[in-house]
Amino acid sequence: MLETPTRVVVTGAAGFIGSHLCERLLSAGHEVVGIDSFSDYYERASKERNVEAAGKHGSFTLEESDLVDADLDRLLQGATVVFHLAGQPGVRPSWGSHFDRYVHDNIVATQRLLEALREEPVKRLVFASSSSVYGDAEMFPTKETALPRPVSPYGMTKLAAEHLTFVYMRNFGIPATSLRYFTVYGPRQRPDMAFCRFMEALVEEQEIEIFGDGEQTREFTYVSDAVDGTVKAASADVVGQIINLGGGSRVTVNRVLHTLEEISHVQPRRKHLPAAPGDPRHTGASINLAREKLGWEPRVSLREGLTKQWDWFLATSAKSPGVSRR
Ligand code: NAD
Ligand code: UGA
Repeated sequence: MLETPTRVVVTGAAGFIGSHLCERLLSAGHEVVGIDSFSDYYERASKERNVEAAGKHGSFTLEESDLVDADLDRLLQGATVVFHLAGQPGVRPSWGSHFDRYVHDNIVATQRLLEALREEPVKRLVFASSSSVYGDAEMFPTKETALPRPVSPYGMTKLAAEHLTFVYMRNFGIPATSLRYFTVYGPRQRPDMAFCRFMEALVEEQEIEIFGDGEQTREFTYVSDAVDGTVKAASADVVGQIINLGGGSRVTVNRVLHTLEEISHVQPRRKHLPAAPGDPRHTGASINLAREKLGWEPRVSLREGLTKQWDWFLATSAKSPGVSRR
């Protein structure tokens, strides 16, 4: 499907992962229609910076719309593939009245997109799901066949959206694939995510806040690896499948801080807070299905990826350790 240049739609195009995906698709010669509501979860200026490079490309258009009421018939016209990355991310803030946002952006928005795809069929819908659907998994590495049992409201809404794609595939033949990304990091990482917060604290000479004892593990995945797998899922024979995309190893938060100290040459000051409600203790991906079905393999090690994110962070924040220049 993506072997020859074609027209594709990327929802969540101004976000962290979506903006990287747009650039990858544009450099492969595709015409990309980006849709993003510029939701206020984090500052608009960051999202505008995210799409700066793609915006310079003649084959890129960006529509600022909420999927819930966007003119999707027009936006989907002539598209071969839809990459659905728009959503309200973040595990820990999904409690209380914030939950409404999660329902709107993760469930209702996905349902509207699926309805529109009944009228404007595409060859593939690739949906950005999440390792959060597993909750506290019983087995590691966790296979896609494990019973999903989210432990956060966020994870529950991502699982609901996965189920919705199945409902529309079963009833209307929409050719969907869901990818479960595992904690993605790299340049443009969202400001609420761990590595971004750790780097910010390092340059500000503030204490790094660790939720719990730091011995929780995550299968951190570098953004270019997540993008590789996402592009492959548009062409591979994977309709109806759910596939993990994980970075290849499971690491504790304490280990990340140790590696970051080696890279930055700054010793972090740590402050332990109670473990956060909604956080699973561990995540870890079995990536055999991605290997087999997508011919995909994660390529970027944690040290290499953290170094790239640190270099990007210093270049864009106008700060360096010990010298606050802003
Ligand atoms: P992000 O917040 O940077 O990007 C999401 C984008 O979607 C934002 O720019 C937002 O404005 C847009 N958006 C939200 N609701 C919308 C709506 N109703 N209509 C149109 N646009 C809307 O987040 P991200 O980290 O790039 O995550 C992208 C996707 O991947 C999300 O669906 C998230 O749940 C999923 N995911 C992310 C990770 C991760 O580690 N970052 C891991 C697993 C899954
Ligand atoms: C990330 C994304 O934010 C979710 O949107 C996504 O769906 C999820 O990955 C996923 O894989 O499904 P999370 O794993 O919480 O969620 O990612 P980080 O914010 O990078 O946190 C990683 C770990 O660091 C967690 O254990 C968290 O408790 C810890 N952490 C985070 C801290 O100790 N301190 C912080 O300041 C932030």
